Amino acid sequence: MAPCASSAAALSLDLTDAETFVDHDPHAYFREVRRGRPVYWHEAPGPRSGFWVVAGYEDVVAAYSDADALRSARGTVLDVLLAGDDSAGGKMLAVTDGPRHRAMRSVMWRSFTPRALEAVARQVRSRAQRLVREVTGAGAFDFAAEVAEHIPMNTICDLLAVPEVDRGRLLGWNKKTLSAEAAGADPLDALQARNEIVLYFMDLARERRADPGDDVVSVLACAKVDDEPFTLEEVALNCYSIMLGGDESSRVSAISTVRALAEHPHQWRALKAGQVSLDSAVEEALRWATPAMYFARTAHHDLVLGGRHIRGGDIVTLWNISANNDERVFHEPRSFDLARFPNKHVAFGHGRHFCLGAHLGRIELRALLEALMVSVGAVEQDGVPNRIHSSLLHGHSSLPVVLRAG
Ligand code: HEM
Repeated sequence: MAPCASSAAALSLDLTDAETFVDHDPHAYFREVRRGRPVYWHEAPGPRSGFWVVAGYEDVVAAYSDADALRSARGTVLDVLLAGDDSAGGKMLAVTDGPRHRAMRSVMWRSFTPRALEAVARQVRSRAQRLVREVTGAGAFDFAAEVAEHIPMNTICDLLAVPEVDRGRLLGWNKKTLSAEAAGADPLDALQARNEIVLYFMDLARERRADPGDDVVSVLACAKVDDEPFTLEEVALNCYSIMLGGDESSRVSAISTVRALAEHPHQWRALKAGQVSLDSAVEEALRWATPAMYFARTAHHDLVLGGRHIRGGDIVTLWNISANNDERVFHEPRSFDLARFPNKHVAFGHGRHFCLGAHLGRIELRALLEALMVSVGAVEQDGVPNRIHSSLLHGHSSLPVVLRAG
């Protein structure tokens, strides 16, 4: 990985390119950005000429907090925003603003409260224990394929009550949508897979509306906002968004956590010995991983952020990965410290769009750490992991490891 030699060189990196952080260390890059120009304008090709990059913790939190000025309905990822507007705007929670967002979120929130997730948490714990037990002491294996891949998607399918017979199909489509940015992937395949998922959930929503259960699809299919039910497309888009939001970020944070434990054996030993609390360990694992590097907004009107004048209509990107490593807030941010406290990271965002599945994300990471503590004596990396090719996600898609029993 090439170091970022100078701030001038660092500030020339193309943040829209899925390959940029395959070759460069984002932490070295953003350290220079925070030092030199914590809010800067990034040129880009396409109908919108560019976007603002916001790197400092205080500015990122301030921007997330001002959801009236910085809105989500035109899209929250650069690929979409630089090409036009998000077609799901106003229909899918993450890309809806104002009172409709509030109403939609309060419907969906009922399925994501700690109480609503109690049964799911039990299933996640037993799944994690079983998966880790099976690979411990079995020599080298890919943690991503053998463990991390099996926890989030199965959990989401349980939440949505996707019938067992359909899960293989859904997983196949999901993989195709996720490889959209991978080298050599055909974007049309990804688009077709996305359409298949939305059509699948429209059919499921129609069935559940006629014969509801207590799953998330039924809740959405039967809910009303301002006396109007959601359209089948709205139900399906929100199921798709839960799948997308819930799968990859959770999987990538699990992979990053195990990698960090292998690289920091003293931290692993402290965890195993019960010298650090699981609560603080989960938060540090999330901060360390920060799988969603940024989310974007569009300025509704002129505003000043970090001393820069932002005009109405400008795209503003909020870099969670930089905020979570801001040395003014996190002491020695690149030291992995499972006892870190306080740890008010923004891995789940902040404000009105704060991750709906944050509690579930935490349950999954906690279950993984508990399962490792029960079965494993030592965590060792056993080869070079593959980086994710993405301008949004940070982490690895494979992780060769050995888990020694103990
Ligand atoms: C929103 C990260 C797990 C569903 C967000 C946002 C972030 C995030 C940063 C804010 C987006 C924005 O401000 O525009 C993560 C991470 C996860 C995780 C790091 C795991 C470690 C999940 C899970 C689910 C989920 C498990 C569901 C099963 C959502 C949804 C939103 C969201 C629906 C939109 C909320 C809204 O706009 O009101 N997530 N997420 N996420 N996440 Fe997650």
